Amino acid sequence: MMKKFLTISILAGVAFAAGAATAQNDPIAQRKSIMKGVGDATKPVAGMLKGTEPFDNALVQKALATYIDAAKKMPSLFPADSKHGGETTARSNIWDEKPRFDGLFARLGQEAAAAQGAIKDQDSLKPNFGKVLGVCKECHDDYREKKN
Ligand code: HEC
Repeated sequence: MMKKFLTISILAGVAFAAGAATAQNDPIAQRKSIMKGVGDATKPVAGMLKGTEPFDNALVQKALATYIDAAKKMPSLFPADSKHGGETTARSNIWDEKPRFDGLFARLGQEAAAAQGAIKDQDSLKPNFGKVLGVCKECHDDYREKKN
């Protein structure tokens, strides 16, 4: 009984490790997961911008730190062999215009860093966070497939 349980948990551990290794070598899964984290961090701030949630600078700063981290990691996750597959919504013009695409990530990092110091309350949230979200839109408009 005990032995059977042990075998199952060891097998589960191996399967988990294999899954993690696959994600590590899969730039499409990695970039989607980073961007998903960016989206999740943005949600509470979107509520603050709409006025449906109270201003909470800790959540704002957390979102900005997530963007800065993503801006550093994202440019290396578009190798030439990752144009297709993995349900990617990346458009193929990324690979024709890689310097401009990478430049938008650099700008995302810069705008987020500037906003870190500039945002203190609801009034300073709108203009400064708005500038950061403008970079998301600029990139998605040109380099991400529209959702149906
Ligand atoms: C320089 C380009 C660029 C910038 C800037 C950018 N994104 Fe993205 N984003 C992408 C690309 C490309 C994809 C599609 C990745 C794929 O499917 O391979 C994506 C995908 C996403 C996704 C879907 C993730 C999933 O689950 O597949 C979300 C959510 C997202 N971005 C949110 C944001 C937000 C919020 C910002 C700004 C804070 C932002 N992005 C800034 C290029 C960008």
